Parts: sequence; C-alpha cells; structure tokens
Amino acid sequence: MSETFAVVNCSQLVTLAGAHRPRTGGDLRQLAIIEDGAMLVRGDTIEAAGRRREIESLINNDCEVIDAGRRVVMPGFVDAHTHPVFAGIRANEFEQRASGATYREIAARGGGIRSTVRTTRNASLADLVKSGKRYAEWFLRSGTTTIEAKSGYGLTLEDELKILRAIKQLNEETPLHYVPTFLGAHDVPSEYRSRRQTYVSLVVNEMLPRVAQEQLAEYCDVFCEQDVFTNDESWEILSAARCHGLGLRVHADQLSLSGGAKLAAELNAATADHLEHTDVTGIAALKAAKVQPVLLPGSVYALGSNDYPAAREMIEAGLAVVLATDFNPGSSPTPSMPMILSLACTQMKMTPAEAIIAATINAAYSLARGDQIGSLEKGKRADFVIHEPSDYRELAYFFGIEHPWRVYASGKLVCQKPDR
Ligand code: NIG
Ligand code: FE
Repeated sequence: MSETFAVVNCSQLVTLAGAHRPRTGGDLRQLAIIEDGAMLVRGDTIEAAGRRREIESLINNDCEVIDAGRRVVMPGFVDAHTHPVFAGIRANEFEQRASGATYREIAARGGGIRSTVRTTRNASLADLVKSGKRYAEWFLRSGTTTIEAKSGYGLTLEDELKILRAIKQLNEETPLHYVPTFLGAHDVPSEYRSRRQTYVSLVVNEMLPRVAQEQLAEYCDVFCEQDVFTNDESWEILSAARCHGLGLRVHADQLSLSGGAKLAAELNAATADHLEHTDVTGIAALKAAKVQPVLLPGSVYALGSNDYPAAREMIEAGLAVVLATDFNPGSSPTPSMPMILSLACTQMKMTPAEAIIAATINAAYSLARGDQIGSLEKGKRADFVIHEPSDYRELAYFFGIEHPWRVYASGKLVCQKPDR
C-alpha cells in the first residue's frame, strides 16, 4: 500500500480549486483559500484538501502528520517557458549591457544566442546533464515543480537531439518535471546566414521528423522576430510541426511588433510568449483564437528595458494570462518564480492573486496539464510547497529571498530549509 501523510495547520491552503479551465477575468483572482486548511496525500496523489477537522477525521494511526506551522501551502509553481539546457554563461555580455550596449547590438556582432550555441555544441550530453541538474536544484529551491524546457542552443540535428536527450534524462533523474519543447528555430546559425532557406528546410525536413519520431518533444517553438525568423519562415516551421502532432508555442513581438501574436493566433498555437510590443489588434487576435499569453517580465528586467507587456489590457480583454521566468543565460538568468511574481505586481500591475494563478493553474493549462497539476485538488499530483509566510501576498511582496520551507514533488520531500 502506498504511503499516506497529512499536512495540517496551514494558515492558508491556497487550493486554486475551481472551474476546469484556464482562469480569466474575475476567476483570475479566486484563489479558493481554505483558512486553517489541511491536505491528505497518498503516494504521489492528493487524496483530499479541506478544513483541518475534515482531514483529521480521515487520518488513521499509521498516517504521518506534517505540521505546516501556520505557513502558506500552495501548488508548486509551473514555469511554462524556460531554456534550462546550455553550456557556459554570458556574464561578459551582462557587463557590456551595463556599459550601454544593447541585446541586439551584442547579437549582431556574433554574441547573444550564437555565443551560447558555440559553447553548447562543444559540450557533451553528460556536461549538459550536469549543469542542468544544478539548475534543476535552483528551480526546486524557489518552489517550482514543473518546467517547460526548450532546446535551441544546438542548431544542428545532432546538437538539438543532444539537448532534448539531456532534458529527457533530467526528467528521469531529478524530482523536477520537464515538458520538452523543440526550438531548432531559435536563431539562424552562423554557417547558414547566407542561405537561410536551407536552414529552414533542415529544421522542417530533418530535425522535426527525427524529434517527432523519437518522441523527444511535445511542443515546437520559433523565435519570430526581425533579424531572426520572419513570419513566413515561422509559419512554415510551425505548420510542419503541427503535422507531426506537436503543440505550438511562439516567441512573439519580444523586441519589436513583428506580428508574432497574430501568427500564433492564425496557427491556433497553445501560447504566444513575450508580447512586449503586441498591440490591441494582436491582443484581440489572441482572444479570438484562445491563445494563452505567456508573459516574461524577468527578461524585460534583466535587459534593463521598460517595455513590460500590457498585462492589464490582456486581462481586461479576457485572456488566460501565464507568467514564466524565461530562464536562460542571456536575457533572463533567473529560475525564481517569486521574483517574477514581484515584477508582475510592481511593473505590470497584476494583483498577487492574479500573479499566483498565472504562475500555477493557468501555466498548467498552457502545457495541457490542467487536469494533473497547478491546483491542490483530489486526484492531482502532490506537487506542493510549504512557504514560510503565513499570507500568500507576502510571496510577491518580499522579494529577493527564497520563500519555500519545504518543497514536495510527486508526494516526496525534495527540498527543505534547515529548521531554526
Ligand atoms: O526568450 N528570445 C529568444 N530567446 C531567449 C533569449 C535567449 C538568449 O539570449 O540566450 C528569450 O529571451
Ligand atoms: Fe525564451
């Protein structure tokens, strides 16, 4: 029989129970909090969540009881946009940007994504798994239990497969759950700059079929942007991906209004990500096609820009907003969802409740996992965090510190702070 344990004495059990769909409008503020809540877990699954009395009546003698000590308990964060497998870091470019260079200028002189591509091509699968494990630990420590993980720093068939295999191995060997995305169209590699169409054909005719055949990805993403992939090229790649049964995500309107949001809508993508420059027409197109916007304020912050996406307008328009870190070595070197909550509230005027929903249940739906994770409800996977504060608003209010006291993934304790 699988092990059973109860978590009791939660000041707030932030269940996020509600309609079985991505949350929009007023539902984006409904956290379904149970004061003095408790939860019963059997094996890797939530058996019940409710008032302390109710749960205590279900407990028998061999049930372990964990006292949450009047802390907040909520689902693990679901980070729906990350680039967590790469070699080397780019602290040098960070320093150059601090001295006035822009992200685009650095990219134009061969730095940026292409710099990480060079180091990642030289790394072995084992090297990538090793650094990936270090980052997995960082995600868990800040309370994240599932991440979407993109390839995109290989840009040859073999190097893209190597990254996706590293993601598969990380999923098997760490307690963090990974949802893999193929991003072979993250940049046009240096050797194809004068023959872009040949690279697009390589992605479509060689990479995508292999990735699909080996079942190494659930989604395909494209960096649709001026100087990167045009709308037509993005269209060609994403439609081919759809024919292989992959879901679609798009890096859209990040550095300029390039029409990526409209493209995501036309292709019925699951998500359009970034959207720093998306206009009202783009927002309306996302709404009509039910595409979820994934907002990444960490990259705006780390690039020293003020172009935060129009979160309020998107919420007013009825979009099921998602928040994610965009963890990567260039534009957003943070794995911390609490930092993203802080930025969402201070820079994009989302409320703490909206930010929490965008970082959990809405993110889960954007990864087609709304029925498995993202809320604390009977039958869902027991991915949850006991955070030190007693009020959920403190998660966004105090920033720059790690809130989790204990982190559980699939019903197992995977991270804990020493007791003081
Ligand atoms: O989402 N925009 C493209 N990709 C990443 C940046 C990757 C990098 O700079 O290495 C992003 O911001
Ligand atoms: Fe990204």
